[in-house]
Amino acid sequence: MKKKVLVGVTGGIAAYKSCYLVSALVKMGCDVHVLMTDHAKEFVSAMTFETLSHNPVVTNMFRRDREWEVEHVSLAKSCEVVVVAPATANFVGKIAHGICDDMLTTTYLASKAPKIICPAMNTAMYEDAVFQSNLKQVISSGATILSPVSGTLACGDVGVGKMVEPDVIAEEVKKALALTLDFEGKRVLVTAGATVEDIDGVRFLSNHSSGKMGVAIAERFADRGAEVTLVAGSITAKLPDNLKEVCRVSSTHDMFTAVTERAPQMDIVVMAAAPADYTPVTKFDQKVKSETLTLSLKKTEDIAAAVGRIKSPSAKLVIFSAETENLLQNAKGKLIKKNADLVVANDVTQEGAGFNTDTNVVTLIDREGNVKSYDKMPKIEVADVILDALKI
Ligand SMILES: Cc1cc2nc3c(=O)[nH]c(=O)nc-3n(C[C@H](O)[C@H](O)[C@H](O)COP(=O)(O)O)c2cc1C
Repeated sequence: MKKKVLVGVTGGIAAYKSCYLVSALVKMGCDVHVLMTDHAKEFVSAMTFETLSHNPVVTNMFRRDREWEVEHVSLAKSCEVVVVAPATANFVGKIAHGICDDMLTTTYLASKAPKIICPAMNTAMYEDAVFQSNLKQVISSGATILSPVSGTLACGDVGVGKMVEPDVIAEEVKKALALTLDFEGKRVLVTAGATVEDIDGVRFLSNHSSGKMGVAIAERFADRGAEVTLVAGSITAKLPDNLKEVCRVSSTHDMFTAVTERAPQMDIVVMAAAPADYTPVTKFDQKVKSETLTLSLKKTEDIAAAVGRIKSPSAKLVIFSAETENLLQNAKGKLIKKNADLVVANDVTQEGAGFNTDTNVVTLIDREGNVKSYDKMPKIEVADVILDALKI
């Protein structure tokens, strides 16, 4: 299930930055709903937010052409975080005193979800004693304030008042969503990326894996409380900063050694890497310059099968099965052969699935033979689906 995040946008010049925020939250796999004040629409159009969030933007509380449920209450109940960015002095003043005269302030007050407020305004407004007293009142109600930073403001003044950057806000939203620590105390090892098999001093064999799937899984385990070790080959994905250990490896043999050393101590091992299946029989130290070169390849070690043999009996092994034909049959065969508990099968010929994409199309198969297929989803969301399937 996607996490539902409510983003409130009020009438400040920093409203344009909230477009980046909404976009970042959507990329994180959130279901983002934007509420704008009437004044916010003077700065950015509702259509921009609708397009970025893939959801309608609600502003008018009294429109009657929507579903029966009272909308501000339904959004307030279902969202898991409320973030208001930018928050005007006017907005802060209103919520400090319980004034609910539009859709945003009413929904804000009706929601019991964690709240993040990002004030942005002219320095004099920010330092004003009445505003500061309103802000204190809002802090005492339990909201998290991401204080504005110093810089040159849109009005030309230099001082405090600039809204914090969208990536900082997205990180805070992530933290608030991660309050479900359902893997707390679990030790998890995840592999990610491609391995690299040297041919000679400059050339190698590898594949197109970006590591995005494995990194997303590692990140969600860490967000959800696990102690995560990531064993990563060649990756282009950005590493999260909440992992316990990141072990970088090059060849399949290096990955085999790193994983088999650690696997017996783990509660969960997820093999999301794409190790090279073959390695040259002979490796040349220097750059080969001959007219022709014939490569003889041999099979590399089967890391997943080794983990299946050495893991503790109570530990869970998750493997990936990237297929181009006979998806279910091949994936089920792998599950048994490698003594795995869950196989994540994907048909890499499908658009939006497999290597080097931000999305994946997967089918999960467990030992009991349960098969569940999912539509195309962002990899971070696929990660949550896998974690949910591992919850006992
Ligand atoms: C060009 C312009 C920029 C503004 N920027 C800000 C701002 O950054 N912060 C702020 O608190 N108010 C700002 N205001 C004033 C708010 O738009 C005004 O207080 C409005 O009533 C806020 O309404 P809302 O909180 O319902 O969106 C600005 C006004 C204008 C015309």
